[in-house]
Amino acid sequence: MRVSAIIVAAGSGARLGARTAKAFVTLGGAPLLTLALRTAGAVSTIDEVIVAIPAGMEREARRASELAGLAIPLKTIAGGAERQDSVRIALELTSAESEFVIVHDAARPFATAAMLEAALAKAAEVAAAIVAVPVADTLKRVEDGIIGATIARAGLWQAQTPQAFRRELLMRAHQWALREGIAATDDADLVARLGAPVAIVKGSTLNFKITTPDDRRLAEALAAAR
Ligand code: CTP
Ligand code: MG
Repeated sequence: MRVSAIIVAAGSGARLGARTAKAFVTLGGAPLLTLALRTAGAVSTIDEVIVAIPAGMEREARRASELAGLAIPLKTIAGGAERQDSVRIALELTSAESEFVIVHDAARPFATAAMLEAALAKAAEVAAAIVAVPVADTLKRVEDGIIGATIARAGLWQAQTPQAFRRELLMRAHQWALREGIAATDDADLVARLGAPVAIVKGSTLNFKITTPDDRRLAEALAAAR
């Protein structure tokens, strides 16, 4: 199996509000991007890594990559305005020899190599597979601070990354979305809207995305406890 990994690290991290772009915020001393690269580097089927970074941060990206000590080829490219644009731009740089692509958020530092391997194994069967967790809380639809409806949580899952796809399928989904002006918050949605089945691999609530300052505090505590 030939695999390209895409790490999306081009976001500014507006909700985190750190002094630097989120992927360069450190956790236990290492930038989030470095942690994501180490995880990708621990998966033996991954042949190359493409990283979407904020424009103008090439130097920081090089430093973060060197710290990861990756033994496989790595390319960086300036991402786009939205996450979807960053994935599409990185996808263009993936080797045509790769049969699979695995997309991962730099903002999820607790993803494990086992999660990436499980997503890839499932994608080898189904063509598309993502890591997700069942929703644990009761969900409310709220308008102007008042609850309108309760959404039954049975059957609801929270999508995470990594998300793995046959490369050809993900490229087709992104090209179609670009042409039709379709926006989605994850790659699985684009692929599903093409009509392809996307399988679930059970992840972990520890694979949370660092979005807010509280998430960062939680991540620091978890990293320190390990
Ligand atoms: N991302 C990206 N390109 C963008 C936007 C996001 O590569 N234009 C990446 C982020 O770097 C992150 C992942 O997509 O690793 C998930 O996005 P999110 O958590 O929303 O990160 P940010 O967009 O940076 O944060 P915010 O929305 O708070 O600005
Ligand atoms: Mg964002």
